[in-house]
Amino acid sequence: MGVVSVINQKGGVAKTTTSLNVASCWAQFGHRVLLIDLDPQSSATKAIFGDREFDNTIYDVLMGGTAIQDVIVHSDSFNLDVVPAEILLSGIDLQLAAHYGRETVLRKKIEPVTRRYDAILIDCSPSLGLMTINALMASKDIIIPICPEYFSLKGIELILETLHNIRVGLGYRVGVRGVVITRFRDRKVTREVIREVEEKFQLRVFNQFIPDSIAVEEAHHNHVPVHDYAPQNLAAKAYRTLAKELW
Ligand SMILES: Nc1ncnc2c1ncn2[C@@H]1O[C@H](COP(=O)(O)OP(=O)(O)OP(=O)(O)O)[C@@H](O)[C@H]1O
Ligand SMILES: [Mg+2]
Repeated sequence: MGVVSVINQKGGVAKTTTSLNVASCWAQFGHRVLLIDLDPQSSATKAIFGDREFDNTIYDVLMGGTAIQDVIVHSDSFNLDVVPAEILLSGIDLQLAAHYGRETVLRKKIEPVTRRYDAILIDCSPSLGLMTINALMASKDIIIPICPEYFSLKGIELILETLHNIRVGLGYRVGVRGVVITRFRDRKVTREVIREVEEKFQLRVFNQFIPDSIAVEEAHHNHVPVHDYAPQNLAAKAYRTLAKELW
């Protein structure tokens, strides 16, 4: 599987929810999975660990001499290894701006552990800034979650443009595994967006859509994956099926 980034610069499209639940399903299937929280909001870190504080996070790895091995924490409830994030990450784009090789800091830092895992998932922030470029430069592929609406198409266009710029400017090709439909509601716009994604952008839309369910939110508050919180819930079952489809 390698390194996969979950990206969309639009906020609130279930990047974190998808990262957490897909990662924990993969772990439940027996794969060795590392989840990297690369968002200053630290939503993934908080959903997994609550208010627990960490001496070192991905920030220290990117900014200083801290080895990634020293910031990995295991979560028993998610059955995952996790690299936590913190709010300090919000200033890192500026701090790294003048660094030589600033786009490949993350790639170099995760290199020592890539062989230990069957999959490494990176939960990106809602931006196409330097941190997201770092995630892309460290990834083999990306997964794009969308809540279908007309603006989602513009968002996808921007992501593809970013991948193009990386290919041309930095000589690195990132693959798109496909688009995940989250918070699915059966509306006309949903079907139209899906058709455009497939026809105009020639991207794969995964068969399994994720329905809207309050259990997803409740699972976050209880710091467990939704398939443990409510195994029979439709969103929980959908994430399990999606995780199989994605693997
Ligand atoms: N299938 C779903 N059903 C109900 N609520 C959902 C579902 N998926 C996500 N949510 C809720 O929507 C909100 C946004 O989800 P999430 O944090 O995963 O999005 P995000 O793309 O990571 O956001 P950000 O861009 O801020 O990082 C959260 O409150 C989450 O609990
Ligand atoms: Mg998020």
